[in-house]
Amino acid sequence: MIRYNPATSSAPVPKVDMPGTERTLVLIKPDGVQRQLVGRILARYEERGLKVVGLKLVRVDRGLAERHYAAHREKPFFGGLVDFITSAPLVALALDGPNAIAVVRAINGATRPHEAAPGTVRGDFALETAQNIVHASDGPEAAADELALWFSSAELFDYDRDVDRWVLAPNE
Ligand code: CMP
Repeated sequence: MIRYNPATSSAPVPKVDMPGTERTLVLIKPDGVQRQLVGRILARYEERGLKVVGLKLVRVDRGLAERHYAAHREKPFFGGLVDFITSAPLVALALDGPNAIAVVRAINGATRPHEAAPGTVRGDFALETAQNIVHASDGPEAAADELALWFSSAELFDYDRDVDRWVLAPNE
């Protein structure tokens, strides 16, 4: 099979379609910002090939924090969770890529840091579940809900990356 080789071809670069692409929300929580880990954590998603389509520093108010963590409202740690996430700025990210939801969760590691594998964000940087550095959507529905909560459509950017011809499989 002859494959298009962008390094040698003078033909126009084909537009890379992204079947199976997902979009997911990541929060680098206040502990990640305070510990000056934002760049190192962001690099892990970028180096894997995920595309940053939204990125902002936010000091979240209690209303948004409570909506974001609504699934945990009845849990004993809910108040502390809201206190923590509103205590200082965090970084909100929207990331695109094939299977982005599962890929990001694998990069982040298990929610409880003592169960997180070395090499994951939590396995490398965290010890406490309450201060586990990052949050990521846990499925397609949560991703859609959370992205709508954290980003307006004007804050999300669709753009092409030249590198995608090296990252993404071409459409057969
Ligand atoms: P996150 O992925 O942001 O989603 C819910 C958060 O609740 C979770 O990460 C933890 O930070 C926090 N959490 C979960 N279980 C506990 C717990 N037992 N005690 C304190 N915080 C918790």
